[in-house]
Amino acid sequence: MQVKPIKRITGGAVQYDGAGVKLVRVIGYHDVKEFDPFLMLDAFDATDPKDYIKGFPWHPHRGIETVTYLIEGEIEHGDSMGNKGSINDGCCQWMTGGSGIIHQEMPKPSNLMLGTQLWINLPKKDKMTDPAYRDIRPPQIPVVKGEGKEVRVISGTYEDVSGPEQGDYVRTLYLDVKLEKGAEFTLTLDPEHTLFIYLVRGSVHTDGQEVPYHRAILFGEGDTLSLKAGDEGARIFLYSAKPLDEPIAWAGPIVMNTSEELAVAQRELRDGTFIKHK
Ligand code: FE2
Repeated sequence: MQVKPIKRITGGAVQYDGAGVKLVRVIGYHDVKEFDPFLMLDAFDATDPKDYIKGFPWHPHRGIETVTYLIEGEIEHGDSMGNKGSINDGCCQWMTGGSGIIHQEMPKPSNLMLGTQLWINLPKKDKMTDPAYRDIRPPQIPVVKGEGKEVRVISGTYEDVSGPEQGDYVRTLYLDVKLEKGAEFTLTLDPEHTLFIYLVRGSVHTDGQEVPYHRAILFGEGDTLSLKAGDEGARIFLYSAKPLDEPIAWAGPIVMNTSEELAVAQRELRDGTFIKHK
């Protein structure tokens, strides 16, 4: 057994994206080598609707999956395929952008908007797969309870309990972990897989440090994650998957392997041939 050390801590800084949404860009463009296959993590934690109401109006995606999970709040969603729906308290929307969608994501006023959007890269061979949605509702998410802990399994398997997703293209472990003050959480993982956690609330002690909320911790070499919640307890999202180790060409919401593929996407957006699957 080798306990994973902290490799890097990110997050903390607030910025604006979309039409003016205040968020914590936890990981992004410059982090992609270390966090592969995860491209981006945006975190929402807002009590003032002014901070998010302008939302993310119509924009395209190609070559990635976006996974939106809200502990609280509501985001209305619509797209070029005519899909329409709402992601709210405890729901997760797992969208495969694949060959291309154009969609909008518009948060609605609520007392608290708390959650994240994760971008997972698609393997080269699957970049142009058909777009798809999986709407995961709270009753579909199993909850594993232990001493001082509650673990929601959104994707992958935890203590022999499988979540509603596994990740069709990138097998992903996605857990929502609630820890009471001083509770311990350990997990054995494939040492080759990327692992990071985002602290939604509270703090954790790991590798001799206490790390507060709104930060992410990327872990280094080892096969065992070991955490202990701080005095306020902790709410953590945990993400792990095998790196793709493929070239990345990234322009805004489109992530391909080469600059030629990006140029094709831009041309198709201009001439109206971007959408391959209606
Ligand atoms: Fe989007």
